[in-house]
Amino acid sequence: MELSERMKKLPPYIFAELEKAMIQKKKEGVDLISLSIGDPDLPPPEFFIQALRDEVLNPDNHKYSFSQGERDFREAVVDWYGKRFSVELDPEEDVIALIGAKEGIANISRAFIDPGDRVLVPDPSYPVYANGSTILSDGVPVFMPLDADNGFKPCLDDFVDQKAKMMFLNYPNNPTAAVADMDYLREIVDFALENDVILCYDNSYSEITFDGYRAPSIMEVEGAKDVAIEFHSCSKTFNITGGRIGFAVGNPRLIQGLTKVKAQIDSGPPIYIQRAAKTALDSYNGDGYSEHVDLMNSIYAERRDVLYNTLRSMGYGCPKPKATFYLWVDCGRDSMEFAKSMLDIGVVVTPGIGFGEHYRNHVRFSITRPKEDIERACRRMEEEL
Ligand SMILES: Cc1ncc(COP(=O)(O)O)c(C=O)c1O
Repeated sequence: MELSERMKKLPPYIFAELEKAMIQKKKEGVDLISLSIGDPDLPPPEFFIQALRDEVLNPDNHKYSFSQGERDFREAVVDWYGKRFSVELDPEEDVIALIGAKEGIANISRAFIDPGDRVLVPDPSYPVYANGSTILSDGVPVFMPLDADNGFKPCLDDFVDQKAKMMFLNYPNNPTAAVADMDYLREIVDFALENDVILCYDNSYSEITFDGYRAPSIMEVEGAKDVAIEFHSCSKTFNITGGRIGFAVGNPRLIQGLTKVKAQIDSGPPIYIQRAAKTALDSYNGDGYSEHVDLMNSIYAERRDVLYNTLRSMGYGCPKPKATFYLWVDCGRDSMEFAKSMLDIGVVVTPGIGFGEHYRNHVRFSITRPKEDIERACRRMEEEL
């Protein structure tokens, strides 16, 4: 059975060899410390679990949800945007519930990309922009290198001639942990308006921030709603990656297009998940702060400091993250080779090549493990690497 031509355009899966080596190490009884995946180890907040328990017991919450999601969930998103970003939205026109941000990111191209349309994609980046979204919609990804000297921002002027239909950007950024300030967000929106490019802004890590930094929303920029859609994930904010709930807000035509695609593919997330996620969003206070998020971020910040200080003392180049649970580390040699030598000491990291071609000498460390595990990994690196 022949795969479609579109499927054949997906890049080859490059981690097979590394995964095989990992399985072998496990078989040998090596105590592997995984600092590779972006899946929080911390539990969901108690108020989410309680709400989920209550909502799941209500028989009405087991019916199909609307493709755009339940009205009360969308209203909760609107309230949250007001508290968190001082942005006003309309729950009917500007908001859609998603089965995770990933689903919306993949489906937005189905709504707006025709075969051969160019889509600007950061390099490195979350692979779904280029693959699940662009290539699987017969679009053509055009990679924009993220320049370390420019705070891991692409130089947008270099891409005017591409006449792209759509652009993905993501700050706080996976995998580089870079953040963007309001001036840069204004630049992005101006570029999208001037060049008639649909701006898909992935703000999935907006809540994972440290040292007093607060990530802005693209919707705070004047004119953004004319060109942009912003994706959010409840996965990282509330440690519920398996719950599959996120949302997107922004330009009503973009929201409508996404809703139309979803109506042909799936329904909204389970109603009980939307209702529990509403409770979680409602837990933010009027000033846009959440006790749960503050506590979680203080735990991540401690872990970040342990790993960052060790890596720096060992001479590795790595910007100190103000956000996300990743560290983007210059390992000074081929990232796959480095990852293999880390495996030899029982520590799993993600080679940078998994996020694009541009940073072959970088690896991504994730701090979604307890501090004690990170300390053990650091000791192994100091003693055995
Ligand atoms: C940049 C980025 N966007 C989106 C997602 C997916 O989020 P969700 O779990 O809501 O689908 C991830 C998950 O790792 C991510 O790193």
